[in-house]
Amino acid sequence: MDYLQINRVDSLNGNIKISGAKNASLPLIAMTILAKNNVKIKNLPHVADINTLLKLLHNLGAKFNRSQEITTVDTSSLNQTKATYDIVKTMRASILVLGPILARFGHCEVSLPGGCAIGQRPVDLHLKALEQMGAKIGIESGYIHASAANGLTGCDINFDKITVTGTANIIMAAALANGNTTITNAAREPEVVQLCEVLNNSGVQIDGIASDVLTIHGTNGKLLNIKEFSVIPDRIEAGTYLCAGAITRSQITLTNVDAKHLGAVLAKLEEMGSSFTITKDTITIHPSKIIKAVKIVTQEYPAFPTDMQAQFLALATQAEGTSIIEERLFENRFMHVSELQRMGANISLNGHVATINGGTKLGGTDVMATDLRASSALVLAGLIADGTTDVHRIYHLDRGYDSLEIKLQNVGANVKRLKE
Ligand code: EPZ
Repeated sequence: MDYLQINRVDSLNGNIKISGAKNASLPLIAMTILAKNNVKIKNLPHVADINTLLKLLHNLGAKFNRSQEITTVDTSSLNQTKATYDIVKTMRASILVLGPILARFGHCEVSLPGGCAIGQRPVDLHLKALEQMGAKIGIESGYIHASAANGLTGCDINFDKITVTGTANIIMAAALANGNTTITNAAREPEVVQLCEVLNNSGVQIDGIASDVLTIHGTNGKLLNIKEFSVIPDRIEAGTYLCAGAITRSQITLTNVDAKHLGAVLAKLEEMGSSFTITKDTITIHPSKIIKAVKIVTQEYPAFPTDMQAQFLALATQAEGTSIIEERLFENRFMHVSELQRMGANISLNGHVATINGGTKLGGTDVMATDLRASSALVLAGLIADGTTDVHRIYHLDRGYDSLEIKLQNVGANVKRLKE
């Protein structure tokens, strides 16, 4: 297994090019199941989760061709409708094939994704909405069995909780449904917005895009001719590198980034002392020497994203004063805390609230990644810790960060990928 070895440097300097968004790419790849044409996708990030979903589609009979910049997906030969446990267990977002396969073929079996390190991750809201659309849903031996022999029927869906992949699944199911589907309490993340925009450009009229009330006008089973598109920049990757600039007090510039997707993150970094120069597709961070303590509550978009919680917690260890971070979306998303404490961070946990007494000197040591964003928090801590920090189990990191160590090396960080 690989690990990252990090030694602190005085500061970073230069540009980091942001890759396409993992969490936009996953539903957009699942969406190709709705197409009758070869779908051309630009700017797919080179990360493990994308490879996993492409492999799943391949196992179902689809074909794909990947180059550095463009990926073509052909699902015309897709002839299997069972997403098996061996793949789904490695990436729970595989649940995103449920809606499209059911809509296109009238039946589908998907292994229950099960929980992951950060929480139970139930899919009850996905299933309840599909049942409302007329699907027969059963759970047997760890698999979801779904059928809708006469196709799905558009209806009014109200999500009890905002669910990002739940919203995406139902948008895709509704795209081929008979009649119109209205989703209230829909997720408004930019990744969901792009899925709506691509579908809307491909013949599926969707009203209310970017709002929490979406109306999808189904095509009554007609497959789509999906137009070529480029995946939006990854706002969480971008936020992570902004935190790298802030924690190392370095002025770095992100390119291929959309600041409009980072409102809450930029606001919190400003509160902590940074300022920014922003253009259409770049962000330059001007960090402050003194990092101010902050209060953060994670909520759905456009509020502060849970996927940036771990990174800000690492940053808060260097702030002057006491920061409070409350995690409201997932039940177990503080596993980076114990590793940061081993580096000397002064953090106490009380249920879903972390209290971080800043101004602590961190010391490098062996630390273990536990989930995707926790891993990036440990890398950030390693950039400013005294001595050497070895971050183990970075397969977690490789799920969602494209060439992280190379991007950091390009701005002067002392980061090496080594073999255990
Ligand atoms: C998406 O996960 C993202 N993953 C997550 O990013 C992100 O943390 C999360 O949204 C919240 O923003 C992808 O887009 C692939 P949810 P998702 O359904 O859709 C509960 C990363 O680091 N819920 O919005 O699975 C759930 O337990 C990953 O890139 C139900 O109760 O999250 C959670 O408390 C981690 N029943 C809340 O809703 C359901 O049927 C939000 O979950 C579905 C969700």
